Amino acid sequence: MRTAIYKNRLKLIRRQLSKNKLSCLIVTKSANVTYTTGFTGDDSWAVITHRNIYLLTDSRYTEQAERQCLHCRIIIRTGPMAEAAAGLLKKLKSVSVYSGVAIEKCTSLAAFELLKKKLKFRIRTVANVIEEIRSIKEQSEIAAIRTAARIAAQALKQTAQYIKPGVTENELAGMLDFQIRKLAATNSFDTIVAFGPNASQPHHRTGTRKLKKDDTVLVDFGVKYKNYCCDLTRCFTVGRPTHFYKKVYDVVREAQAAAIKTVRAGAEIREVDSAARDVIKKHNLPVYGHGTGHGLGLEVHELPVVSAGSKDRLKAGQIITIEPGVYIPGRVGIRIEDDILVTKTGRKLLSRNCPHSPLSP
Ligand code: GLY
Ligand code: MN
Repeated sequence: MRTAIYKNRLKLIRRQLSKNKLSCLIVTKSANVTYTTGFTGDDSWAVITHRNIYLLTDSRYTEQAERQCLHCRIIIRTGPMAEAAAGLLKKLKSVSVYSGVAIEKCTSLAAFELLKKKLKFRIRTVANVIEEIRSIKEQSEIAAIRTAARIAAQALKQTAQYIKPGVTENELAGMLDFQIRKLAATNSFDTIVAFGPNASQPHHRTGTRKLKKDDTVLVDFGVKYKNYCCDLTRCFTVGRPTHFYKKVYDVVREAQAAAIKTVRAGAEIREVDSAARDVIKKHNLPVYGHGTGHGLGLEVHELPVVSAGSKDRLKAGQIITIEPGVYIPGRVGIRIEDDILVTKTGRKLLSRNCPHSPLSP
């Protein structure tokens, strides 16, 4: 990626550091390391000062780091990460006991404790500094998520041939994952396939249940393309659906459409959430316990959280899922999930190519 992109990202992050009177931020969350350095390996941290950005990695990743992180100073550690970070901070002139050193709040307690022991400075913890910036997508990020959604749609269509009585949830998930791989992408999380009443558990663990002649299918899956995630859920039937299934399905679609209609920059997130829940309530069906959606990006769940408790408003450039559902244990589980770009005047549906049933022509 062009270094100009990282320069801009770092400018925005440094502005937040100045606001918080910080000279240095230790970045430990993998997605935030990728966002600021371009590095896509594991077990690495970044240290951001007002002058430089350092990538702390190990010898497994030397070549990759040199290739991906042209704007970074690369440090190849040999001991524990916290020791390497402490060693670097002690050497930096701009960093002192008085200058404000912060580490991301999501850091493991073990790493934090070791860092505190090795470094005699007071270390502050900060949350969501980079995540807030990441929530507004650049054009290249929007393009990657749009492509991820396109690949997901194609993979689901190519899986249709395997949806036959006798196939197990595990097998169908494997077939879908294989199509995603064939399209040169990977999963953004473990594919959920739930047949029949298994779908009443929103995060059912895909298992050995076989598809029956007349049955229902829930597929919740995501594609990762150029490190960016999409997240989709589709529900459909093989054979003839019951009257009740059709009724619930139509209500969930109506709920999703009502929420999507409210999406635009400036909209209150809790209003987006309630638009979907109100439709389900109106039809006297049980309202889902999970959020109505979430942001998408380098992580499959990121800011903004789209739920009733949110006090935030949507911003142009955010990409969110809208995924209401109805779950009745032992009877039915239906969720429909699409990916939506928030624009100044409204929204763009990034997952419009994804068929509502891969079985329909
Ligand atoms: N689609 C899975 C989830 O959002 O948790
Ligand atoms: Mn989701």
